Amino acid sequence: MRTPVCERLGCELPIFAFSHCRDVIVEVTKAGGFGVLGASTVSPAQLEAELRWIDDHVHGRPYGVDVIIPTTYDREAEREGEDLARLIPQAQRDFVDGLLAAEGVPQLPEDERLRVQQEIVQGRGGMTPDGARRLVQVALQHLGVRMVVSALGAPPPDVVQALRERGIAIGALCGKPQHAIRQREAGVEVIIAQGTEAGGHTGEIATMVLVPEVVRACGPGVAVLAAGGITQGSQIAAALALGAEGVWCGTLWLGTRESELEPFEREVLFGARAEDAVRRRARTGKPVRMLKSKLSEAWEQPGAPAILPTPLQGILYNEAHARVVRAQRKDLYSFPVGQSVGSLEGETSVKDEMVRLQTEYLDAVERLASINRDL
Ligand SMILES: Cc1cc2nc3c(=O)[nH]c(=O)nc-3n(C[C@H](O)[C@H](O)[C@H](O)COP(=O)(O)O)c2cc1C
Repeated sequence: MRTPVCERLGCELPIFAFSHCRDVIVEVTKAGGFGVLGASTVSPAQLEAELRWIDDHVHGRPYGVDVIIPTTYDREAEREGEDLARLIPQAQRDFVDGLLAAEGVPQLPEDERLRVQQEIVQGRGGMTPDGARRLVQVALQHLGVRMVVSALGAPPPDVVQALRERGIAIGALCGKPQHAIRQREAGVEVIIAQGTEAGGHTGEIATMVLVPEVVRACGPGVAVLAAGGITQGSQIAAALALGAEGVWCGTLWLGTRESELEPFEREVLFGARAEDAVRRRARTGKPVRMLKSKLSEAWEQPGAPAILPTPLQGILYNEAHARVVRAQRKDLYSFPVGQSVGSLEGETSVKDEMVRLQTEYLDAVERLASINRDL
C-alpha cells in the first residue's frame, strides 16, 4: 500500500486520520498512518499543550496539523482578544434559549457555563485567517509536524512561505477541481479531494466523481488524497484505482474508544444511518455534514433567525450543544459526521481499525487480481 506520498511525508501507510482528538492522532501515527490534528477549535496555548503531548507519544514519527482559513467570515471577529461572545445578537441568543427551554434542557451550572463559553470563544477565534496564523505559529515550533493542512481556502502566501522555510508540506482540502487548481497555484503539495459524503464542511460533488477530476486537474507533482465516505479497505483500493495516493478519513475514528466523544454520543452515532447525516449551516455558518436532530433543524424552520457568519454561529451553536450533551438528549444531539456513520456499528479501537483497513484492502486487491486471472 506504500505510495509516493508516504515517502514525501515519512509515514508507512497512506492512511490519513483527521481528528480533533490527540489520542487518535497518536494511535494512527504509531500504527504507521499519518494523524492530522484538527486545531481550529483550540486556542494557541491549548494547541501548544496538545502538540507537546503528541511529540511525547509518537516516538519521532511525523504527523500533521489542520487549521481552517475561511475566505468569508466576520471581520470584527478577527481582532485578537476580541470578546467574540459580545458580537452575537441578543435575538439569536433568545432563539436558542427559547428552543432549549421549550425542550426542557437546563442551563449549565454557572461555573461550567463560563468555562465552556471561554473554551468555545477561544477555540472559535481560530476560525479566521489571523486566528489560523496564530495556530500555525505554534505548529512551526514542533519538529514532528511535517504537514499543515488548510480547510475552506488556500493558505495565504505568508503562511506558505513560513511552512516552506521549515520544510513542512502544505496540504489543503478541496470540494471542486477549480479549488484544487487554485490551491496548487498557491503552493499546496497535498490536496485532499473531499466528497460531499464527508463529515464536516463539505461541497456538493461525490467522492467517486471528485477524486479523478482533481487528479486530472492537479497533474504530476501534487499528491491527491481521497476523502469522504471511506471506512473500508475496499474503498482504499478504489481510491488508489481512481488515482489518489492515499485516503483521508474522519468519521471512522469517532467510533473508536480513543475519540473525543462521550459514550452517550457514540451510542447516538451507532444508531444513525447514512441518510441521517445532512448538510446544514447551523453549526458554523457554512454547510457542514452533521447528524440530523431537532437542534440542527431548528434554523431550517419558518421564522428562524438568519445564520450568523463564521465564527459567531459556531459559538452560539456550540454553547447549545454543550447543554444538550450534558442533558444527554439524543433527539437534540448533532455532531459533524459523514454518510459513513451508517457503517459504524459499535465501539472499536484505532489499532483494530488500522489492521482491518489493511486486511480488507489486501482482500479487495486479491479479488481484483482473481477477476483478471479468471478472464
Ligand atoms: C467531527 C468532524 C470534524 C471535522 N472538522 C474538520 C476541521 O476542523 N477541519 C478540516 O479540515 N476538516 C474537518 N472535518 C473533515 C475531515 O477532515 C475529513 O475530510 C472528513 O471527515 C472525511 O470524510 P469522512 O468523514 O466521510 O471520513 C471534520 C470531520 C468530522 C467528522
